[in-house]
Amino acid sequence: MEPVKVGLLGLGTVGGGTANVLARNAEEIARRAGRGIQVTHAAAREFNAEGIQGLERIEITTDAFEVVNNPEVEIIVELIGGYSPAKELVMQAIENCKHVVTANKALIALHGNEIFEAAQKKGVMVAFEAAVAGGIPIIKAMREGLSANRIEWAAGIINGTGNFILTEMRDKGRDFDDVLAEAQALGYAEADPTIDVEGIDAAHKLTIIGSIAFGVPLQFEKTYTEGITRIEQQDVVYAGELGYRIKHLGVTRKTDKGIEMRVHPTLIPERRLIANVDGVMNAVLVKGDAVGPTLYYGAGAGSEPTASAVVADLVDVARALTTDPENRVPHLAFQPNELSDLPILEMDDVETAYYLRMQVSDKPGVMAKIAGIFADSGISIEAIQQKEPAEGETQVSLIMLSHTVLEKQMNEAIAEIEALECVMGPVMRIRMESLSG
Ligand code: HSE
Repeated sequence: MEPVKVGLLGLGTVGGGTANVLARNAEEIARRAGRGIQVTHAAAREFNAEGIQGLERIEITTDAFEVVNNPEVEIIVELIGGYSPAKELVMQAIENCKHVVTANKALIALHGNEIFEAAQKKGVMVAFEAAVAGGIPIIKAMREGLSANRIEWAAGIINGTGNFILTEMRDKGRDFDDVLAEAQALGYAEADPTIDVEGIDAAHKLTIIGSIAFGVPLQFEKTYTEGITRIEQQDVVYAGELGYRIKHLGVTRKTDKGIEMRVHPTLIPERRLIANVDGVMNAVLVKGDAVGPTLYYGAGAGSEPTASAVVADLVDVARALTTDPENRVPHLAFQPNELSDLPILEMDDVETAYYLRMQVSDKPGVMAKIAGIFADSGISIEAIQQKEPAEGETQVSLIMLSHTVLEKQMNEAIAEIEALECVMGPVMRIRMESLSG
């Protein structure tokens, strides 16, 4: 059988890795797919020719639309990133009845509903394993491996840059800015690192995880997104003293009222496996009603780890080329006409426990006043710790852990506490998750 002809859009880090993995493992891949998979065409403005195998067999152009409109090409691999022209190229490929593989999380999170609808009409596949957690086959696991389950919740460390920063802050006591500069130099961070540290990259990925977990349309705009830029060295230390680690988590959970979709720094018990996922590594914990908790761990970025996911999608597409479009794995795990309109909850309606840190005057009655506000708000305190004042200081840090409470209730209590004369500056608040099975 003739090899499947692939057109690569982008020959950068992931594009080059994809070409290399396909060339190096050609034989094994063909044995798995049932036929060869060959990059015949590529579009790129700049690339490092020395680092890419098999370039002599690839027809290269600077015009990506030329590849998308080439009748010889059967599968388009979009590795350009961003919204435009990536969206136009993907839509044009679908219009031309070509299958698409993409690593573009932003594109899928924001425009996936429209892209999948167009693909369904044309009977083509759009595969996006590489868009979430790089080389970890989390889409495959959730969409196929867990299809017997009612998913209850999923929580993931899905941004390597943020995890690298928090790990270095904890292990080496380094400052945020210093570690971020290193992550940029090492090539982990997005071109605009605010996309990593403000949680936008993780929110793109969580949007996709949530839709696949619960069979709801992609709704990036409703995903709550909070970054790690406010986290201070002292919070990392205090969390550690209390037996917790701070991780930048994406959490999605089905409740009686709707679906939680939130990305924010989170205290998790240090004894959980996921709390020990360090550096640039990613991990996703998924709780199914039948299987219980399952954990998926691996490299969330990088040339060949991401290429591993892209090539796995190519194998899937190659195998399914001759299948009836109605009988393929649905894009969002559930049949398109079975997607549910369960609401995505506002943060005010989300219930979590909290870590609070506040700077207070070191004098009698302060603790009682603060405890009184919590009592009046119906918030139960799990632990309180007062740090010893430094020599000659009249202020101390007060650390409190609460039991689970509605966010709206906690916001009101925090506003009252911040209004007290004996409380200096804003209260630092970090949500907590037990992630227990
Ligand atoms: N900037 C992303 C990260 C790359 O740090 O995880 C992979 O999406």
